Amino acid sequence: MSPPNKGTDMDPKSEITLHTGKKMPVLGLGTWQLTNDTAGTVAAALELGYAMIDTSGDYGTQPGIADGINRSGIERADFFLVTKVEETDDAYLATRKNLDELRLDYADLMLIHRPPRAGAGEDLWQGLIRAKEDGLAKDIGVSNYSIDLIDALIEATDEVPTVNQIEWSPFGYSDGMMRYAQEKKIVIQAYSPLTRTRRLRDETLAGIAAKYRKSPAQVLIRWNLQRGSAPLPKANQRQHLEENIAVFDFDIGEEDLETLNRLNERYSSLGTLPYI
Ligand SMILES: NC(=O)c1ccc[n+]([C@@H]2O[C@H](COP(=O)([O-])OP(=O)(O)OC[C@H]3O[C@@H](n4cnc5c(N)ncnc54)[C@H](OP(=O)(O)O)[C@@H]3O)[C@@H](O)[C@H]2O)c1
Repeated sequence: MSPPNKGTDMDPKSEITLHTGKKMPVLGLGTWQLTNDTAGTVAAALELGYAMIDTSGDYGTQPGIADGINRSGIERADFFLVTKVEETDDAYLATRKNLDELRLDYADLMLIHRPPRAGAGEDLWQGLIRAKEDGLAKDIGVSNYSIDLIDALIEATDEVPTVNQIEWSPFGYSDGMMRYAQEKKIVIQAYSPLTRTRRLRDETLAGIAAKYRKSPAQVLIRWNLQRGSAPLPKANQRQHLEENIAVFDFDIGEEDLETLNRLNERYSSLGTLPYI
């Protein structure tokens, strides 16, 4: 993994190289609960320059995303689509179903949404490996996985996930997971990077945002970009969509990054961070 992590040499089209050699954009649009006007929001995002869209079989947004992609007229090679199979699915069949809903021939990245109740989901992983071999997914990865569970998948198959998509913000992250991910060349995709708005009024964050004349949300997105993790902020509102991509014209200085790092309280919008 060699992420560009100096802010101002990145732009919305910058990419991170995955361990398979394929490239993934550094920033994506989250679409959980993006249901006001999914197609319109996705088309607007693509026009604004978002190059990655994150969804899942259980978000209900895949048909709207397909409409938004069509409406925008964007070429298939010019956007990166991430979607997920559920822990109770047959992973191979669910991959096909997702693609049908998305009206796409392949996903750029297909993830196991969360580990099953028992075990690491070796069968799910085998299903995704087959989907990749058949060209249905360019790359495969996991979400909400702990180090032990990723190790179990690797042990069973020798196939290292390219990505672990987990909740990740200055208020909730893990140095241990970051070190492990770097060692295995797994990229962390950051979900709920804006803490679902619950920490946007934090005083330390607000102070840093004011210093750079940026919003707290923009500082949270940049914190991820500069640390090599790929944030997936979700926004229904046009103003938020615009704000969240206007993050390539400033750098958070090292001291301020350290101050943000110290905000870690293992905060999770779910109650606990499932990967720790
Ligand atoms: N793999 C998983 O298990 C998992 C779990 C959770 C999320 N995710 C993915 O990660 C994505 C993002 O996470 P999330 O949706 O939980 O939360 P989030 O992105 O942290 O927060 C979304 C909230 O922030 C608001 N917002 C967006 N931009 C803003 C800005 N510039 N200023 C102030 N508020 C702003 C949005 O408002 P508006 O919508 O009104 O604009 C929305 O209420 C999801 O959509 C999904 O794709 C994955």
